Amino acid sequence: MRKNIVAGNWKMNTTVPEGIALAKDVVAASAKVPASVKLIIATPFTHLVPVADVVKGSVVSLSAENCADKEKGAYTGEVSAAMLASAGCEYTILGHSERRQYYGETDEKLVEKTKLALANGLKVILCVGENLEEREAGKHFDVCKSQTENVLYNFSEEDLKNIVIAYEPVWAIGTGKTATAEQAEEIHAFIRKVVADKFGAKAAEDMSILYGGSCKPSNAKELFAQKDIDGGLIGGAALKAEDFIQIALSF
Ligand code: 13P
Repeated sequence: MRKNIVAGNWKMNTTVPEGIALAKDVVAASAKVPASVKLIIATPFTHLVPVADVVKGSVVSLSAENCADKEKGAYTGEVSAAMLASAGCEYTILGHSERRQYYGETDEKLVEKTKLALANGLKVILCVGENLEEREAGKHFDVCKSQTENVLYNFSEEDLKNIVIAYEPVWAIGTGKTATAEQAEEIHAFIRKVVADKFGAKAAEDMSILYGGSCKPSNAKELFAQKDIDGGLIGGAALKAEDFIQIALSF
């Protein structure tokens, strides 16, 4: 059975003390969230070690926002999957559209990153999604299919158990413009089919597929009510513990 997941992606927000305070607020409010919902917070690298301490023993799991595509060595400024695991991370986000758009993240690099993350015991939240131009040109299915296939098809059915997909239409991120529940469901069901085509119906049924893009307390319920939407990857609304937890209460 697939899990319902609400993951907060803090992006490049909060100082370390602010991040610790936010994590404490999330942990305190997490008592209200039923055990059937997995809570994850993804913080900047600098925050991981102190936040790992805050979430220890709670129901909140820790995630990074990225990891290196190399194991170790002379790669100044990079942070390896082994480092993340040793810092207390359980997950890492990979392939966020902001990384694809601003930092040249390619599907090829994502394959390497995913291999290293899994090899180091991390679970992966793999992001896919079309931009506005692609949506307007009617290419959204093709883009999501190729982004999903190019990474996922390099892994085994066993690996899949440690991978979550997040569909994040770029035009809905930080814009206040959410995909409608129908638009999101249509792509989620499609991505699940792309997974099923290679790994079979059971593996696809067991895979959690999250929606991201201006998800907030006011629209989470409608989105999460869709058959193939198993939760959310939350940006802006994850910076307020109250909103984040409210979203987690929307199943
Ligand atoms: P917003 O919720 O701020 O639109 O961001 C979504 C996102 O990119 C999460 O990874």
